[in-house]
Amino acid sequence: MLIAKTVDQVRQFVKAARRQGRSVGLVPTMGYLHEGHASLVTRARSECDCVVVSVFVNPTQFGPTEDLEAYPRDLKRDAALLESLGVDVLFHPEPSEMYLPGAATWVSVEGLTEGLCGRTRPTHFRGVCTVVSKLMNIVTPDRAYFGQKDAQQLAVIRRMVRDLNMDVEVIGCPIVREADGLAKSSRNTYLSADERRSALVLSRAVFAGEKLVREGERDADAVVRAMRGVIEAEPAARIDYVEAVDADAVTPVTRIEGRVLFAMAVYIGKTRLIDNFIAQI
Ligand code: PAF
Repeated sequence: MLIAKTVDQVRQFVKAARRQGRSVGLVPTMGYLHEGHASLVTRARSECDCVVVSVFVNPTQFGPTEDLEAYPRDLKRDAALLESLGVDVLFHPEPSEMYLPGAATWVSVEGLTEGLCGRTRPTHFRGVCTVVSKLMNIVTPDRAYFGQKDAQQLAVIRRMVRDLNMDVEVIGCPIVREADGLAKSSRNTYLSADERRSALVLSRAVFAGEKLVREGERDADAVVRAMRGVIEAEPAARIDYVEAVDADAVTPVTRIEGRVLFAMAVYIGKTRLIDNFIAQI
């Protein structure tokens, strides 16, 4: 596995791969990899001749009071995992390699980024879209893989790729959960043992919502109310949002028809966790 620190190294690798007619898959990550990331890499490995994984804690998607400094990092462990999964290139640039002095260009998607996480993280998706565009331009992948756990991010990236005519297929992969239901996340490492137990309200709310829809409930507000009820029963949990939106347009819905995203962000202590499910009717 090549560990590339510079844009040029990645470009040279990709050019050589293209000359040999090999397809390229990209898995963008911020590192501290878990089974959720591994599932993206495994899918990329099965569908592409070459797999490039980026490990870059992107400063522009963190707000001024967010956890950029504290965000967990362990490149050695990440590299060992990626090597064992058969990855061809681990791209691990310094922030100064990704953002040159005087960088003045942003990629923003409007509308879809204003609700849900965008309400409390107003500059987050601009940072995500900018770095993902840059990675797409550097790697020029045939396919790029993202987790469904970040459902709003996935919808935003799909829209960006469509709107900017990026020649890449965006592939969303299912949420991977711990045995007890908690969605895998690098931020789970922030939780104390007690908080880890309290954090199970997120998946419990998801499963309760899914059950209601399975049983025939078509009133989105009724499902949201039930999910909120589950979370509010846990004293350590503080709701940021629980909402039902159109899964592609990220606009509020009241009836469950088509693809409806039920998404939540919940604070457990100081840690903000997200989870969701999509109802498809
Ligand atoms: O989902 C993430 O880990 C990040 O938002 C991404 C897509 C790697 C961009 O930094």
